[in-house]
Parts: sequence; structure tokens; C-alpha cells
Amino acid sequence: MNEAKQLSLFHTARSAAQHAYAPYSNFRVGAALLCADGTVYTGCNVENAAYPLCTCAERTAICKAVSEGNRTFSAIAITSLDSADACLPCGSCRQTLAEFCTDDFLVIVQGDSADSVRAYRLGDLIPAVFRLN
Ligand code: THU
Repeated sequence: MNEAKQLSLFHTARSAAQHAYAPYSNFRVGAALLCADGTVYTGCNVENAAYPLCTCAERTAICKAVSEGNRTFSAIAITSLDSADACLPCGSCRQTLAEFCTDDFLVIVQGDSADSVRAYRLGDLIPAVFRLN
């Protein structure tokens, strides 16, 4: 995946973050999940007054894709509107991604400057992952 495509997916994640429902943390996150067939599913974080019920943007996008029959993913872009730093997926989202993705799946976040990106391999973000088998 070339840098221009990564940047385009990142911009899609940024648009999705506008829909975030984050009245408790005020930390608005967006994700854009690219499927092998080229479909992109977006997601945002959806919080709840009962804090453990908060859903991350990444898992919103994954649930949208899986619930529509799409389980083959190539990359995800993630960004927050409320931080100048890269927004990396939490441990729960890494494990959820690992349920469906191989180690080569790309996690795209903001790079050193606002309009640049950096890509990580999922296998580097969650090595020695738990699997049931
Ligand atoms: N959050 C995400 O949506 N994705 C991440 O990668 C990090 C954290 C959300 C969860 C919660 O709604 C808020 O950001 C603060 O943790």
C-alpha cells in the first residue's frame, strides 16, 4: 500500500472522527478499515455513562464490517481530533484486530507531522497473540 493510499485512508478516518460520541473523555477518535475487496468501513468511538460500555472507533468499524459479511481486512487508519500525537490502538482493539487479521495487516497512524502517516505491522503491535487452538 503506497503512502498516498495510506494518507487517503487516514483522511477518511479523520472525517469519521467528526461523528465521535465522546462527552466523557472529550477524546474524539475515528477509524477507517480497508477490506481486501476495497470496501472501507468507518468507525468512531461511542461512549456511555457506564464507562466500561464505551466502544473504541476501531471496534465500531470492525463490527460494522463483520456484521455486513466482510471479514478480510488489509489496513486500518486511526486518528484523534483531540491530540497532536499518533493515536495507537488500545490492547483490546489490538486483540480484536488479531482475531481477523494476519501479522502483516497495517495499522496507519499520524506520522511526525500533522499530514504525514506512519504504518505499523499488527504483528509488531501485538506479538505472541492469544489464539484458541
Ligand atoms: N479510543 C478509541 O476509540 N480508540 C483508540 O485507539 C484509543 C481510545 C477511545 C476510547 C474512549 O472513548 C476514548 O478514546 C478515551 O480513551
